[in-house]
Amino acid sequence: MSEVSPENRLNELSAQEWLRFTKTWFIHNPPPRKKAELLHPAKYPEKMIEEFVRFFTKEGGIVFDPFLGTGSTLVACHNSNRNGIGIELQEKYAKIARERLQKLESQLKLDEQGSKLKAKQVILRGNSAELEKYWKEYNLPLVDLVITSPPYGPMLNKKGLVAKEREEEGLDLKYSDDANDLGNAAGYDDFLEKLMRIFVQMKPLIKEEGHLVVILQNYMDKGEYKMLAWDFAREMTKYFQLRGERVWCQDNKTLYPYGYRYSFVPNVHHHYCLIFRKRKVEND
Ligand SMILES: C[S@@+](CC[C@H](N)C(=O)[O-])C[C@H]1O[C@@H](n2cnc3c(N)ncnc32)[C@H](O)[C@@H]1O
Repeated sequence: MSEVSPENRLNELSAQEWLRFTKTWFIHNPPPRKKAELLHPAKYPEKMIEEFVRFFTKEGGIVFDPFLGTGSTLVACHNSNRNGIGIELQEKYAKIARERLQKLESQLKLDEQGSKLKAKQVILRGNSAELEKYWKEYNLPLVDLVITSPPYGPMLNKKGLVAKEREEEGLDLKYSDDANDLGNAAGYDDFLEKLMRIFVQMKPLIKEEGHLVVILQNYMDKGEYKMLAWDFAREMTKYFQLRGERVWCQDNKTLYPYGYRYSFVPNVHHHYCLIFRKRKVEND
């Protein structure tokens, strides 16, 4: 393995590892999910998130996920010795996150190496629309990195072929009926506005030159292609600097014959990992 440059301000990667990460697309096929995690409709793979965490922070850095779900971000933080803070609206998912972390932490205690790892993971059950309140109440620190996948619009309420399969297996089709759940926004514009409000409120909680990685997808909704990733990126540039994107391609998903014989309907098997940075000098 090559040397880590002492002048590297951002992370602890070698030159080769750094370079490899800058390619704007990658294929990551998530491994099959564990039984408890299957309940959640849209978990992302912790191994993939760990790569982002290792690029945008150093050991001991502070990472935040405002839509924690089953806690994958904090698992990535635990495995890379970063401190993590996560907020999840639904107790059923926060519970899965707590159990995953407890299991990892108890394994550590049995491991001699474990005593060297000091990073802490904090799981809060709450509404990310009230971030300021939690930061004050729990005296939380400024963060180096925000990494998250928000609900992908009101899209989970759609009934499609995938939804039918999940329904048959008794798994959740949507996160909840909670009015604070972004996935239950009245429509696309309402969803985007609520999502943006959360990111704007988050800005003072991020260190200067800290990064945000937001994973989103464009999607087809009732015959109309919603440009969620692009619309969100454009809105975000009013508050943060867009640094670019990494396109996460999945190459092991079932192809469904949507539109076959009459119209092009994409099987969207890629996500945008949108990368933003909080500027050093603020003019707003
Ligand atoms: C795409 S999932 C995140 C999945 C997560 N990355 C994982 O690996 O499990 C989005 C999550 O946001 C949660 N959520 C929706 N609205 C929220 C809100 N206002 N505050 C906090 N969490 C919210 C949902 O319950 C859902 O678990």
